[in-house]
Amino acid sequence: MSAPSLLARNPHSTEGSGIVPLETVGVIGAGVIGVGLAHALAQSGLRTLLIDVSDSILQAALGQIRNNIRFQRLFREKAGDGAEEILARIKSSASYDVLQEADFVIENVTEKLAVKAEVYRQLDTICSSRCIFAANTSAIPIARIAAMTGRPAQVLGMHFMNPVPLKTAVEVIRGPHTSDETLAAAGRLLGVMGKKAIVVGDSPGFVSNRVLMLTINEAIFLVQEKVGSPEVVDEIFRTCFEHKMGPLETADLIGLDTILLSLEVLHGEFKDSKFRACPLLRQMVDAGLHGRKSGRGFYSYED
Ligand SMILES: NC(=O)c1ccc[n+]([C@@H]2O[C@H](COP(=O)([O-])OP(=O)(O)OC[C@H]3O[C@@H](n4cnc5c(N)ncnc54)[C@H](O)[C@@H]3O)[C@@H](O)[C@H]2O)c1
Repeated sequence: MSAPSLLARNPHSTEGSGIVPLETVGVIGAGVIGVGLAHALAQSGLRTLLIDVSDSILQAALGQIRNNIRFQRLFREKAGDGAEEILARIKSSASYDVLQEADFVIENVTEKLAVKAEVYRQLDTICSSRCIFAANTSAIPIARIAAMTGRPAQVLGMHFMNPVPLKTAVEVIRGPHTSDETLAAAGRLLGVMGKKAIVVGDSPGFVSNRVLMLTINEAIFLVQEKVGSPEVVDEIFRTCFEHKMGPLETADLIGLDTILLSLEVLHGEFKDSKFRACPLLRQMVDAGLHGRKSGRGFYSYED
């Protein structure tokens, strides 16, 4: 773990300007999306506090960020900061106490309401009263998350997509109580990260995942019914529609466990059978085929 003294000063400091400061950003959860998010924040010059439940998860996450930065630099004309400079801006910790320093926290823990509820209970106690909370949830309504805190005006959704460092826009969700100042601070943070905010209203799954999760689930039904292999289903989308990726490649990138949890949230919220998860998806998750993160999903990544 990096010592606090190693943390580089944030060039985007708003200290003394009278607006909500964005000096230090907490990232809770160092899984698929948290790793990309911490990388993108630190690469943008922001001090980043990366939190997860164990040191071993955090060490693996930092190793992954180091590899991703090195890989990314192979394809960049202007290389920018190197891995060690970027990693020096990330302080990792298995304790929430370091979040006392955070101006803005982005939560990326497992897509389960009970897990998130415990996280927000701790955040609300430990973080300063001016700290903003952004939920990077796939489907849980922001109103539900805001109600777990004593600061609903300072809560919003920021739905980053994978891989975060390469994406140019973020779906920003305004909850019923989200204040203009909170929305503006999120917009400023995304500006620093070189990303555009696309603001939408609150709904389970928001805009992106109400559509995407249905598409992915239906694509899995097609594979289950042997209408087409994963390769054929994805090829239709890549070649006929000219999408960059097919729905099953996208599912592997997101993580099949997260897809299943998101569908369960949507099914629970809407009580609409169109969101029932395909049995093949459940079977694959039970079998540990979680996509890229486990080495196998609809495709193999073991090499
Ligand atoms: N995978 C994606 O492409 C993607 C995109 C946008 C949003 N999301 C959302 O981001 C969240 C995380 O998804 P993911 O794919 O990274 O999942 P993941 O399973 O890869 O990672 C979740 C991480 O949260 C950690 N965690 C669990 N409980 C915690 C706690 N109490 N405190 C701190 N850390 C804790 C886990 O140890 C794990 O490292 C979910 O809500 C998901 O819906 C995922």
